[in-house]
Amino acid sequence: MVAFSAAALTSVIALAIGVSSGYFGGRTDEILMTVTNIMLVFPQLPLLIILAAFLGNVGPFVIAVILRLTSWPWGARVMRAQTLSIRRKEFVIAGGRRSGAVEHLDRPGVEPAAEDWLASAPLAQAERRGRRPPRRGCIMSAPLLSCRDVSVDYIVGGGTARACNRVALDIHPAETVGLAGESGCGKSTLAFAITRMHNAPALISEGQILYEGRDVLAMTPAELRASRWAETAMVFQSAISALNPVITIGEQICDVILAHRPVTRDEAWSRGEELLSMVGIARARMSAYPHQLSGGMRQRVVIAISLALRPRLIVMDEPTTALDVVVEREIMDELAQLKWKYGFAILFISHDLALMGEICDRIGIMYAGNLVELGAAAEVLENPRHPYTQGLVGSFPSIHGPRTRLHGIPGSPVNLLDLPQGCNFQDRCPARIAACARVAPHLLPAGLGHEAACHLVTPPQEARA
Ligand SMILES: Nc1ncnc2c1ncn2[C@@H]1O[C@H](COP(=O)(O)OP(=O)(O)O)[C@@H](O)[C@H]1O
Ligand code: SF4
Ligand SMILES: [Mg+2]
Repeated sequence: MVAFSAAALTSVIALAIGVSSGYFGGRTDEILMTVTNIMLVFPQLPLLIILAAFLGNVGPFVIAVILRLTSWPWGARVMRAQTLSIRRKEFVIAGGRRSGAVEHLDRPGVEPAAEDWLASAPLAQAERRGRRPPRRGCIMSAPLLSCRDVSVDYIVGGGTARACNRVALDIHPAETVGLAGESGCGKSTLAFAITRMHNAPALISEGQILYEGRDVLAMTPAELRASRWAETAMVFQSAISALNPVITIGEQICDVILAHRPVTRDEAWSRGEELLSMVGIARARMSAYPHQLSGGMRQRVVIAISLALRPRLIVMDEPTTALDVVVEREIMDELAQLKWKYGFAILFISHDLALMGEICDRIGIMYAGNLVELGAAAEVLENPRHPYTQGLVGSFPSIHGPRTRLHGIPGSPVNLLDLPQGCNFQDRCPARIAACARVAPHLLPAGLGHEAACHLVTPPQEARA
């Protein structure tokens, strides 16, 4: 009875906090998740001893209740992730629109103060004079970007390497979607395809990429130029190769602004200064050349440029991989604040699952060009369903819980020019079954808002027969 009532209490608290946090978002989410995170770092046992000493002679009932009162944060995080995932479902969006219940979720993460600042900025004034109406982000609207069965092939001497195989992925307004997987699994290829920055021998051989319903693959070069930076911005790993070494960073920021907005050079320059200070660089560094900045500063400059036209989607391909962990942490904190203020969506590509767990709403895992798992970040990291994801998660040390031996993934990634019949992961999979050598698995539902491509999760027809 004691255990049952205590477990019920934990569930009720986790449900109330997680669902409120995920549903209301904004300030409520921030406050509730701050409390949750603080509770997570409290060591239960010392807390229990202190409380027991404070309360005097306590019985098993009080101990059980105290234990449960401190056990809810994990459940709350899972519930929040599930709520975030469910509230983006089309049927919820449709229901919300009909009832008007989602009205308050308009402009997620855009603080009034920040918006005032944006409205007063020269660029915003120019935007009002110019072509585009002011934007309104809405986390519960239709996808901002939709990849529909996108395949990308590299036509090389030895044959055709399919680096992305029928990848289906939606990114919603203000959402951060992470993409992880070993080197060579197709993450960058997908990022280049989304932004149409791929070059021969890469070829988008099938599928559709829609940005706000517009077909990116059908855009003319002029439409693409207008869309890049203004609608979708890119931040890649090596800032030094993204910046022109013989032009000052101020001129490079101005060039991006002037190419897209009807503003004067002075207005573009002052906007550039604002952007630099937003990413923590002194305005005076506008006159610096890239080689005069550290690696971290250069990466901040690229992030500043990516924000220059307030795009709604930023594709970040391993933006901090080349930086040390301290600078990485600083940049990620600044990015989180900017995202909170301006509400843009991010496709975040990284090897670092721990970092992804902190910043992503959903995580997709790629292997050999296939999206093999997709779901709410906490769900994918804490309850991975695909053996490959389990291997990736098992390769990372956890900062919570006891020390455990890390298990890598045996073998090496499959050769894209010589794929086996059935599942691409079968040679490395510790859990393979007979059907794995015959039937290729597809990404299918594996739980609430969670999908996996594995026969263990969804047995193929032949195994069910
Ligand atoms: N320029 C290229 N020519 C031929 N094949 C390529 C080229 N770039 C990438 N590939 C192939 O595409 C696969 C995926 O590459 P990539 O998207 O860069 O992986 P990731 O970003 O996940 O490390 C690689 O394993 C390689 O086989
Ligand atoms: S389909 Fe089979 S081989 Fe592939 S991951 Fe699942 S169990 Fe392993
Ligand atoms: Mg890459």
